[in-house]
Amino acid sequence: MRGSLKITSSILLISSFIVNQAQAVCRAAAFAGGGSRGAYEAGVVYGFNHAKNPADFSWDVVTGVSAGALNSAGIALWAPNQGKEMSEWLEQVWLNLTSSQIYVDWPLGWLDGITKESGIFDNTPLLNLVTKLYTSFGSVKRKTVVSSVDVNTGQYVIFDDSMPFSDLPLLTVASASIPFIFPHRHYGDHILMDGGTVWNTNLISAVDKCKAMGHADSDIILDIILCDQKGISEIGDTGNALNNFLRYYTIQSYYSGMNDILEFKKTRPNVQYRYLTLPTGPVANGLNMINFNPSNTVPMIELGKKDAANAIKLGEGKGFELFEQYMKLSPQEQDQLSINEYFAMHYEKA
Ligand SMILES: *[C@@H]1O[C@H](CO)[C@@H](O)[C@H](O)[C@H]1NC(C)=O
Repeated sequence: MRGSLKITSSILLISSFIVNQAQAVCRAAAFAGGGSRGAYEAGVVYGFNHAKNPADFSWDVVTGVSAGALNSAGIALWAPNQGKEMSEWLEQVWLNLTSSQIYVDWPLGWLDGITKESGIFDNTPLLNLVTKLYTSFGSVKRKTVVSSVDVNTGQYVIFDDSMPFSDLPLLTVASASIPFIFPHRHYGDHILMDGGTVWNTNLISAVDKCKAMGHADSDIILDIILCDQKGISEIGDTGNALNNFLRYYTIQSYYSGMNDILEFKKTRPNVQYRYLTLPTGPVANGLNMINFNPSNTVPMIELGKKDAANAIKLGEGKGFELFEQYMKLSPQEQDQLSINEYFAMHYEKA
């Protein structure tokens, strides 16, 4: 009698588990890299979580590369059901920033930095800041993955929340260590630099983490937050080497980022591709990519909020449709009209 009761209750448990699994979706978001343009992404996160249904953005999984890793690491400190509070906090973190809280000059100058430390600036302040934030929260509350590139092997390496908690700040900062600008970071056998040098978004881990939690592709909802913008050379360009390097870095990420998404979509066609955002107005370029002062970041935060609201207004899946339509335009047409302008045009019509 007792035995059969036990069996019945475990069958009940199993069947309710299956029902839950069948109903539940897994929400994931992937954040791209882009230096101070990370402020734009924080604005998008704020916009999503201040829309009609913040619960739609209770991401179970967040992945990030470079500046996107800083955002996803911050988001991961909050439970999925605290999206509104999280997004207000994330905005405040960005509003509080200044460049000197991210990096400082080396005591013996930039040449010494390059030759001895592999980066023009010392971003120890960023490591200290991320460590302080992590310590004050004490744990990670959703699945998170950051990616870097191993300098020696050229391999793309990913680290998730199964790593020791105390190592996560270093791994986050390693992901954001733009080569030549910030020093490589040593971790175990790895020498790590900015993950955006290979892939500027980590879509694979976002989907794989959901799958590892038992979800089918068709139950996975994916949002992609990009901050790419086609670099337009400006009149009065200084020709400064650092400025040029940062321009090159962003243009390269623009092209690789676009193709990565299309390629990925082909391999995982059943995933629910929901919102895709990218800046529809000006964002930092060149030297301003490493300018973290409010004069540079506040307009990007505000643009992010506006774009998030417009993405929702346009509708689920629509950003991905626009994206694919744009990629079918001829190279000449694409030269005339950046994808950012293309999105802006469609937001106006929505
Ligand atoms: C922003 O700075 C203020 C003043 O220093 C501080 O009290 C607050 O905790 C900071 N907020 C965040 C989210 O870091």
